[in-house]
Amino acid sequence: MKITVINGTEKRGVTYKLKEMFIEPFKSVAEITEYYLPKDCPSFWVGCASCFTKGENTCKDYSYINAVEKSILEADLIVMTSPAYVMHATGAMKALLDHFGYRWMPHRPALEMFGKRAVIITQCLGAGANSTALDIKNSLSWWGISKIGVFSAALMGDIIWDKLSEKKRKSLIKNINKLARKFAKINYSKPAHTKLITKIKFKFCRFIQKKVQKNGIGGLDCKYWQERGWLDKNRPWKRK
Ligand SMILES: Cc1cc2nc3c(=O)[nH]c(=O)nc-3n(C[C@H](O)[C@H](O)[C@H](O)COP(=O)(O)O)c2cc1C
Repeated sequence: MKITVINGTEKRGVTYKLKEMFIEPFKSVAEITEYYLPKDCPSFWVGCASCFTKGENTCKDYSYINAVEKSILEADLIVMTSPAYVMHATGAMKALLDHFGYRWMPHRPALEMFGKRAVIITQCLGAGANSTALDIKNSLSWWGISKIGVFSAALMGDIIWDKLSEKKRKSLIKNINKLARKFAKINYSKPAHTKLITKIKFKFCRFIQKKVQKNGIGGLDCKYWQERGWLDKNRPWKRK
């Protein structure tokens, strides 16, 4: 199996420690590829919108985005991590997610995403881990992923792992190991079940693309939906 990890920070801090614990049971059975932000996607999306209108390969940051995208499309499990910075995901993580706006369901979602699993690992000092996880979950779910596991925690003490109370460390270890066991049990040779909410979102996006097609104003996105037969009977979660 293949796992792609996208670390929202280059710091080897608490987030890194928790991520290492999560991937530990997979190390002997999986090929794990890791990306560290901002190193592996150092630029912001600048609003040129050429990914939407001319194609993702026209992006000034295409070499970075293409490397990450190829890896996540091949992965059986995607792991995304971020500490809370002012109640949200790190700016570096947000910059990466912005680049993948064209992969949101109303535009050109990748077929592969509909059968994938993902895990989000976030933590903070006091408050903000949940909203951080939500920042990432919004993108993953609009990319088409239904099966998303979330670990989020508040340290409520120190910000250095070794300085946390033993009780706190034990509880973090227990919870991250529980999530790792849950995801280690999955049979990755079968695609994940597509939830009803994903299908509803798809239906809504299809309705928009149908309108666009009817009015003859469709661009790249509409052509993409047409080519996959999604404006007819084909659905990304129905594998032939
Ligand atoms: C710029 C910045 C903003 C932060 N904002 C929050 C916050 O909104 N809520 C919170 O509880 N902790 C906040 N923190 C604390 C970090 O989330 C916390 O120290 C976390 O454990 C850092 O993870 P790391 O060791 O993986 O870097 C912030 C830290 C920084 C540097």
